[in-house]
Amino acid sequence: MKRSIVITGGAGFIGSHVVRLFVNKYPEYNIINLDKLTYAGNLANLKDVEQCPNYKFVRMDICDFEAFYQLMQQEKVDGIIHLAAESHVDRSIKDPFTFARTNVMGTLSLLQAAKLYWESLPEKYEGKRFYHISTDEVYGALEMDRPEGVEPPFTTTASSSEHHLAYGSEFFLETTKYNPHSPYSASKASSDHFVRAYHDTYGMPTVVTNCSNNYGPYQFPEKLIPLFINNIRHRRPLPVYGKGENVRDWLYVEDHARAIDLIFHKGTVAETYNIGGFNEWKNIDIIHTVIRTVDRLLGRAEGEDLDLITYVTDRLGHDARYAIDSSKLQRELGWEPSLQFEEGIERTVRWYLDNEEWLANITSGEYEKYYESMYGGR
Ligand code: NAD
Ligand code: DAU
Repeated sequence: MKRSIVITGGAGFIGSHVVRLFVNKYPEYNIINLDKLTYAGNLANLKDVEQCPNYKFVRMDICDFEAFYQLMQQEKVDGIIHLAAESHVDRSIKDPFTFARTNVMGTLSLLQAAKLYWESLPEKYEGKRFYHISTDEVYGALEMDRPEGVEPPFTTTASSSEHHLAYGSEFFLETTKYNPHSPYSASKASSDHFVRAYHDTYGMPTVVTNCSNNYGPYQFPEKLIPLFINNIRHRRPLPVYGKGENVRDWLYVEDHARAIDLIFHKGTVAETYNIGGFNEWKNIDIIHTVIRTVDRLLGRAEGEDLDLITYVTDRLGHDARYAIDSSKLQRELGWEPSLQFEEGIERTVRWYLDNEEWLANITSGEYEKYYESMYGGR
């Protein structure tokens, strides 16, 4: 079926993987990558698909209601996959207003333009979909209450190592009450509520997913894994927040993109799906793995860069543990992660080492100033 789909934030990390998947898999669709190209947007992430006849890039701010309404009319848009956002927690602590503007007002602007356009059509909402990509951080933080030696209720298919053990007895479910702590997660929570309100109030066919931490190629090197790979390569200090004991639940980005494809096409309207691979790691364990992998792939003695680890002041309001229960998605739509974590990390490290130019382009200029403001003087 010919479809016309806008993917917002398609020049960012996850968005670029989603755009690539859709452009390659659905040559009959019209795929429009809508992105403002903030510091996090990079068209070099999509070099391999930019010439495809079913792909188009539009530079636009999601807060520009008029421009987006016009685009919907011109392109007869019937699907929106919304990833554009300010996404970095540390930046949200320094500058919460930008997060409220983009994540809350921007999402509301898209919803309202979609509503006006779709309601103006004879078939109205039939065959339409507004898919909002959210995060597990909206649920707050979980306890680390698993006593030593006690078997967890879940094990993962995503990791072959001992680290896959869950660090607590509770998991985020689709029914878990929202309890965001950072300005970033508060803004994402607010946008999730607006999306659900557009379904409940106007009958818009929406769907929301909440995913755990992603890793993989094309992630902006302010996030833990690419930042540390780059720093190890250049033998710069590795700023570990607090004691490095916070737990995150990691998913390879292409597995997230596959889930988005499945849910966009087969997910039930008005439902929420959690996405994650039951793959919890303490930061410090992941950092050790990344150091050993970089060292090995660079031909250094494995572990020789462990002394780059530098414990720094903790992130304000640092959430202790995230752990997603994605059984609903696995059970109802048959999705499961495709990669074991060790393989995903190896692939990821290899990609950043092989793509030094991509990293160098980003980490020069403005980024240097940002890095100084974050870590300078520590
Ligand atoms: P990212 O920061 O790498 O990319 C965000 C993209 O949005 C960039 O291309 C940027 O230019 C664009 N953008 C920002 N403000 C915009 C605006 N006002 N108008 C138009 N475009 C704008 O983010 P990411 O890590 O790829 O995350 C994508 C989405 O997935 C976000 O909504 C995030 O909350 C969610 N998410 C991320 C993760 C993760 O681990 N990275 C996990 C779960 C959910
Ligand atoms: O859980 C999903 C979320 O994952 C997404 O919604 C966010 O967009 C994404 O940025 C990510 O948030 P985190 O805050 O978990 O990711 P980050 O890479 O910033 O940090 C991962 C962990 O590593 C976290 O516990 C903080 C810690 N950390 C991070 C950085 C950048 C450090 O110890 N040192 C660092 O320099």
